[in-house]
Amino acid sequence: MGAGKSTLGQEVAARLHRPFVDVDARIESREGSIPELFERGIFREVEERVVLEALMMPPGVIALGGGAVEIPAIREALRAQATTVLVEIELETAWQRVRGSDRPLAQDEADFRELYARRQPLYDEVADGRARDADGVVLAAGGVTVAAMPTDLVPGPGPAELVADERVLELHRPPVEARVLTVPAGEEAKTVATAERLWRGLQLDRGGTLVAFGGGCTTDVAGFVAATYLRGIDWIAVPTTLVGQVDAAIGGKTAINLPEGKNLVGAFHWPVRTVIDPTLLRTLPEEQRREGLAEVVKTGLLAGEPLWELPDADLVRRCAAFKAALCLRDPYDRGPRQALNLGHTFAHALEAAAGYETVTHGRAVGLGLLAALRLSGRSTEAVEEVLAPEPVNVGRERAWEALKRDKKSTGDELTLVLLGDDGGFTANVAETDVRGALDELIAD
Ligand SMILES: NC(=O)c1ccc[n+]([C@@H]2O[C@H](COP(=O)([O-])OP(=O)(O)OC[C@H]3O[C@@H](n4cnc5c(N)ncnc54)[C@H](O)[C@@H]3O)[C@@H](O)[C@H]2O)c1
Repeated sequence: MGAGKSTLGQEVAARLHRPFVDVDARIESREGSIPELFERGIFREVEERVVLEALMMPPGVIALGGGAVEIPAIREALRAQATTVLVEIELETAWQRVRGSDRPLAQDEADFRELYARRQPLYDEVADGRARDADGVVLAAGGVTVAAMPTDLVPGPGPAELVADERVLELHRPPVEARVLTVPAGEEAKTVATAERLWRGLQLDRGGTLVAFGGGCTTDVAGFVAATYLRGIDWIAVPTTLVGQVDAAIGGKTAINLPEGKNLVGAFHWPVRTVIDPTLLRTLPEEQRREGLAEVVKTGLLAGEPLWELPDADLVRRCAAFKAALCLRDPYDRGPRQALNLGHTFAHALEAAAGYETVTHGRAVGLGLLAALRLSGRSTEAVEEVLAPEPVNVGRERAWEALKRDKKSTGDELTLVLLGDDGGFTANVAETDVRGALDELIAD
């Protein structure tokens, strides 16, 4: 009570584009005032009916009343049908917010404190995650924690094995005590050969959990192996690069490469948990940090906020929450999630034209963002200031051919992600304009 569930619930529902039900408001609109229902002794009965009905609707966000968890049928339904996020609040703040209201259970401070203490174990029992703000609720719903490494990383009693980047293991203590299978640093981890070595090396049964510890390459291959080993086992992502923490370890996309191209074999397999510890970034070399910064700038542009100006811990948390919300909204990348491709069509074309050798993904994304912003008629100042991407030396025709291969074309137009006042959207753009924007990214 007084934790702000109704306000947060509404905000989260808007971010996830889901229906929202405020249980107390629904009760009042349908059944009469809550104090009156309490007086008649039927409030809990009505509440049970309204909550169970709300849990049957298409996935949405439900703000429960503070006492709903006292009803066993509701606790059971939450366990079976919902991800339950406990909105944390200091008792003192909660009391200051509710005192003087007409809430029947907030008339006396001593009673309020006692009620709070009595309910606490029930909240702990039902909570799948905890949060204090809308980002926190989204992260909890996506199974993402931004915090120092917990001591109980792997939930439940099942065995765990660790798949770790060998370089990262030299720099950091493993996040869990478990059998270790290493993968090489970089894209070499994302080969069929590495995946096969992992499939054959794992000793887990179906109840086991694979923990991935490394950058995007490690979480991509480990997640893919988890998706396919014994037809799928649980996995936990512990990303150690900025790319991993703001992007690769969130959203359930996993993949390996083929000689024909990157990420050509993969699966959607959402990790049961993603634990982001920003202190792991302290050992990250500057050039790797810049790779991640390109995705941070992209996220900030989409979110309409200069997220790149924040200190690491906040920056990572805000970007992770932004991506988690889009991915929860569109888990299989069929619609709104495609906004995350802002600038990436150009980036992929430049990387392909450079044979994936001389142009890093981060630099290519920086350039791609310039092109996307120009085509959107928006300022490129932030990208120039933060990423300062220099034009690249690649064949113009080769880049153009790669871009056209990558993109659906309708007549003489190409479908691209552009940026508007409300974030990213897809639009058809005349081929000549796209070509012009691409040419500007290439040095003479
Ligand atoms: N699944 C997705 O949704 C998604 C999204 C974006 C990118 N990706 C993939 O992610 C990959 C790129 O990820 P990446 O940039 O993290 O690359 P990476 O995993 O190769 O890591 C980059 C380098 O940093 C080193 N490293 C990692 N953590 C470190 C640390 N804490 N300190 C010092 N060095 C450290 C690694 O050993 C490696 O050499 C690409 O293959 C890309 O396709 C996937």
